[in-house]
Amino acid sequence: MKQRIELASTALNQARQTLQHQFYPNYHLAPYAGWLNDPNGLIYHEGLYHAFYQHHPFSADWGPMHWGHATSEDMIHWQHQPIALAPGDEFDRDGCFSGSAVSHNGQLYLFYTGHIWLSGEGDDSHIHQSQCLAISHDGIHFEKKGVVVPCPQGYMHFRDPKVWYQDDRWWMVVGARDSLDQGQILLFTSHDLLTWSENYQVLAKTDDKNVYMWECPDFFSLGEQFVTLFSPQGKKPQGHQYRNLYQNGYLVGNWSPNQPYEITNQFSELDMGHDFYAPQTFLAQDGRRIAIAWMDMWESAMPSKAHGWCGCFTVPRELTLDDQGKIISNPINELTSLRTEQIDIAPCTLTKNSSLTLLDEASSCEIELIWDLQQSPAEKFGFWLGDGAEFFIDGQNQQLTLSRHYPEYAISGYRSAPLPQTRHLKVRAFIDKSSLEVFINDGELTFSSRIYPKENERKLKIFTINQQAKLIQGTIWPLKKRVIG
Ligand code: FRU
Repeated sequence: MKQRIELASTALNQARQTLQHQFYPNYHLAPYAGWLNDPNGLIYHEGLYHAFYQHHPFSADWGPMHWGHATSEDMIHWQHQPIALAPGDEFDRDGCFSGSAVSHNGQLYLFYTGHIWLSGEGDDSHIHQSQCLAISHDGIHFEKKGVVVPCPQGYMHFRDPKVWYQDDRWWMVVGARDSLDQGQILLFTSHDLLTWSENYQVLAKTDDKNVYMWECPDFFSLGEQFVTLFSPQGKKPQGHQYRNLYQNGYLVGNWSPNQPYEITNQFSELDMGHDFYAPQTFLAQDGRRIAIAWMDMWESAMPSKAHGWCGCFTVPRELTLDDQGKIISNPINELTSLRTEQIDIAPCTLTKNSSLTLLDEASSCEIELIWDLQQSPAEKFGFWLGDGAEFFIDGQNQQLTLSRHYPEYAISGYRSAPLPQTRHLKVRAFIDKSSLEVFINDGELTFSSRIYPKENERKLKIFTINQQAKLIQGTIWPLKKRVIG
């Protein structure tokens, strides 16, 4: 593997020299160069946070999957590290697909899917997938140990292991597609991380006949309950829901070892934006449950490919469960360390069809706007970012909407969710060079989308259309630039 990693590093270093930075994030983790998709192996291990990711170092397109790697002390300032895994052994010949990490006796264990195409590259109808292990003593260099969980009979799509420790045992969930093409999650156990049960339990499965695969499962306790987080494929759009090519979301239920998973809350989307997939969670040093997702969607136009890189993570979000069993998702507090200054916006009532410029160049900032909905009879009000992106309260339809329009890249369309019925609406947003993440009412709803403004079209304005809108509090924090080493 060492030689393959060296080859990949040489390719990356070359590509980095010609990388164009127009859309390259200031504070979101993106590949040094080349392609990135799912977050993998997120973990706090021996004093550092590690983030791995699906990575193709030889071009900005998806290709034979490697595991890229970065480390951080605070989940915000990341340092790129050498590639951790390169495919090409008999059990992972065509790719080291997604997986997870555990920290055990000072060693870092990576569980990932060894992927093999059986009838030609890209032909998903005939593949072999098994769960493999690699171990590191120094947290940087990994030694592959081969297959630990072979594909059970009757399955072919069998991937994305997530491993955790509970009740004196190790547990692994794996995403699968059964022989009737229905998505499900299989559960395995182990006492030593090396030998895994041949028997498995079907922990959960789809009740939607269209859903043929559950990718990237995660299973963890939150409050008193157990959350199953996964990325279903095949779900059909329903009104404003499930609009992306593939979905992400969660179930909530009760579980204890060797018992069936009792679902109390059916599937809900975790994020309502255009670009949010394959989220993975891990425990922060202090026990907070943190989620990071790939902030893109399969088969979307990805303009940064022409710039030598593609794909980035969301900001890390802390997950909690409210008493209705709904996940509340908030940017982690560590993000405040990026703030350079605070700009207060005087409370104001925007009169009919007016706008107010808040920033001339919004490419690295956090904003918080609190609107008084009762005193805002406007048809539509919110903020514009350049000409291409807007986030607004749609008073007529009682919806919240994130809309983007970049015809030069064939990217258009909006995502929308019901307006929470509160008097005051808090809209907190993180803006980076090519992303917009909006958090409503302290994490009740989130929208994450990639945006592609022109260099000189990044004015941030608040606006109202037909009737007035009342802003009762507004704050802007410009954020530090270039925090990823
Ligand atoms: C999800 C996914 C995973 C797979 C990986 C391959 O985005 O399709 O199921 O392991 O990407 O890169």
